[in-house]
Amino acid sequence: MAEFTLPKNSKIKKGKKVNAADGAKRTKTFKVYRYDPDLKNEKGEPENPRLDEYTIDLDKCGPMVLDALIHIKNDVDSTLTFRRSCREGICGSCAMNIDGRNTLACTKAIGEVSGAVKITPLPHMPVVKDLVPDLNHVYAQYAAIEPWMKTDSAPPTKERLQSADDANLLNGEDGHGPAGCILCFCCSTSCPSYWWNAERFMGPAILLQAYRWIVDSRDEATGERLDQLEDPFRLYRCHTIMNCTNACPKGLNPAKAIAEIKKLMVARK
Ligand code: SF4
Ligand code: SF4
Ligand code: FES
Repeated sequence: MAEFTLPKNSKIKKGKKVNAADGAKRTKTFKVYRYDPDLKNEKGEPENPRLDEYTIDLDKCGPMVLDALIHIKNDVDSTLTFRRSCREGICGSCAMNIDGRNTLACTKAIGEVSGAVKITPLPHMPVVKDLVPDLNHVYAQYAAIEPWMKTDSAPPTKERLQSADDANLLNGEDGHGPAGCILCFCCSTSCPSYWWNAERFMGPAILLQAYRWIVDSRDEATGERLDQLEDPFRLYRCHTIMNCTNACPKGLNPAKAIAEIKKLMVARK
């Protein structure tokens, strides 16, 4: 049987432990992935990542995992690095793996995790530092689908109107249509096909975005957009495993969007 070993520099080492201050009544431990490319070992190579353990006083922070991270950064260890902006589940920047699932730290309640809370960056992405993944590649893929309205007809004098039914294709009748995507990439980074083929497969987040423009009644480049995806890798590396839909913290269905694109491909032949 084939055996695989991780490269030495990817093995996660035990890090430091920081205890809550004396007198804390409600405590919780957070095991947080740490990686700093500027920390070098004796050979001058970047130090391996490590898991630091912080036990914090829950009475000193809000109820969400992001609140705990902000408390750690502000009051315990200012070197901890993570992205966040809106704290409302809208910007997508606090996506990370919490307790084994990709999700948003700002909408994940600490109380939902029993035992210690393990936090690592979104999987299968290069790490810039600590919980910050490098999103350059996935944003280059986003740019490649040209995510803006393309029209050839003369512009109207007023805004381009849509019927309620056409708007529903974007917003979803239940409010969970493709326009609700916040580009957090929880889906793409939970997709096994994307893990192994990220160079050429667009992945569920970008394909959902492509679908959003394909079904936009105001856009006039549908054929061109489908042509761009007609490729054995860009679209067809999706094997309908559905991890993406299970992972989406906004309740969207990227797997269905991909299936709809495939149907449109067949219908136009
Ligand atoms: S349905 Fe397709 S895109 Fe979604 S996780 Fe599976 S292979 Fe990936
Ligand atoms: S489909 Fe969901 S999980 Fe994927 S990027 Fe959009 S909001 Fe995030
Ligand atoms: S901080 Fe914006 S989605 Fe979490």
